[in-house]
Amino acid sequence: MGSVFSSRSSNDVFSVRGRDAVEKGAKRVVWDIISDLWHDQLNPSGFVSVGMAENTLLHDELLEYIQANARFSPRHLTYNDGSMGSKELRTAVSHFVNRHFNPFRPVEPQHILMTNGCSSAIEQLSWTFLNPGEAVLLGKPYYSTFIPDISLRPEAIVVPVEFGDLDPLSPKVIDRYDRAAADFEARTGRRVRAVMLCNPHNPLGRCYPRATITGLMKLCQRRQMHLISDEIYALSVWENRVDKNCTFYPFESVLSRDTTGLIEANLVHVLWGMSKDFGANGLRIGAIISQSNPDLHVAQRSLSLYTFVSGFSDQITASILRDDDFTDLYIKTNQKKLSDAHEFFVRMLKQHGIEYATGANAGFFLWINLGKKYMERHAGEEATASDITDIIHQRLLDNRVYLAHGTAYGATQPGWFRVVFSHPSAWLEEAMERIVKAVQ
Ligand SMILES: Cc1ncc(COP(=O)(O)O)c(C=O)c1O
Repeated sequence: MGSVFSSRSSNDVFSVRGRDAVEKGAKRVVWDIISDLWHDQLNPSGFVSVGMAENTLLHDELLEYIQANARFSPRHLTYNDGSMGSKELRTAVSHFVNRHFNPFRPVEPQHILMTNGCSSAIEQLSWTFLNPGEAVLLGKPYYSTFIPDISLRPEAIVVPVEFGDLDPLSPKVIDRYDRAAADFEARTGRRVRAVMLCNPHNPLGRCYPRATITGLMKLCQRRQMHLISDEIYALSVWENRVDKNCTFYPFESVLSRDTTGLIEANLVHVLWGMSKDFGANGLRIGAIISQSNPDLHVAQRSLSLYTFVSGFSDQITASILRDDDFTDLYIKTNQKKLSDAHEFFVRMLKQHGIEYATGANAGFFLWINLGKKYMERHAGEEATASDITDIIHQRLLDNRVYLAHGTAYGATQPGWFRVVFSHPSAWLEEAMERIVKAVQ
């Protein structure tokens, strides 16, 4: 029997932006994929995901540590010290960051705003610094989710910056950022308010040379733009033992720079969290480190209710980050395992003749050219295909393997995908077998 109420579509009962979210949500398949993961016995028809930036290499060790060390009290059932993170957690984060990011000025707990993940931190900064319709510059290729983080709810605009043949991380690109800002402002009459940086870079897996950061600082100062440096992969820097003739830059945090004469310190903000360097996306822990912008901290007193970290995650993270023996060993072991996993995956890519972008020494990913491989067997198809990346992506999904779609990451050439190698060898072998089948 039907309802006494006539059924209405979301057109009638949703806001315009709510309807937009319905449309976007219908296309977002990634949650379906990760909730149907392959297991040789329990779910043989599931997906092998090498698309999500998750690092599973040390999950057992981290879980064991948490189970042995986390201590909960009634405080963790309350709002505790408020929505910007407990004093205990902010003290632990400042201690940790001071040991590992080499800050020019020591990071104090009051410089830190905790959020439920870096995604929330980015959204908060976009909402706070930009009026709807104002813009953030984002160099190509980029981490695709920066776009909704910056624009979906804050209603800001992302201006992707094209670099042509230039290395996207080289100091030569500063002028491209400048021109992109000038073009946007001339075209729309609205301001560009920030540069969004990802260092180490997702998806390229490399660290920015110091000169590029210096150039961006000067540009941001001249145009009065914020420099938001997402350093969520700061400690996932490792030795690349396979690629020859590449220049590898060490990671240098924006926090480590004396900004005198380069940029006003109130325009500089750093993001970090537990999702990547501790392989703990599920904790939902992010941090905004902003050392010289007191008003940002005041604003977050009202906004952070919506990005409040769970008391349990807060406590678990504090217990991890203040334990120097554990974190030192964890970081070192993680870096070694990432280096091994990178070598293992590159060996498989070479065996199968799949091109990849060389020179990575950070993060969990390789930027690979499946288009070229696919065309070896399907010559001529590009003439009829509207987007070869879409075709390959569909074939990958048909073979129950998930890789991040290069077009969504701002790839300038078709056929590129981001593959995540921070998983055990058996998982990577299964993924590779399916990838090869998909492009045959
Ligand atoms: C560069 C970058 N920033 C932020 C995030 C999201 O992090 P979180 O899980 O803390 O929201 C990711 C996740 O892939 C990322 O790669």
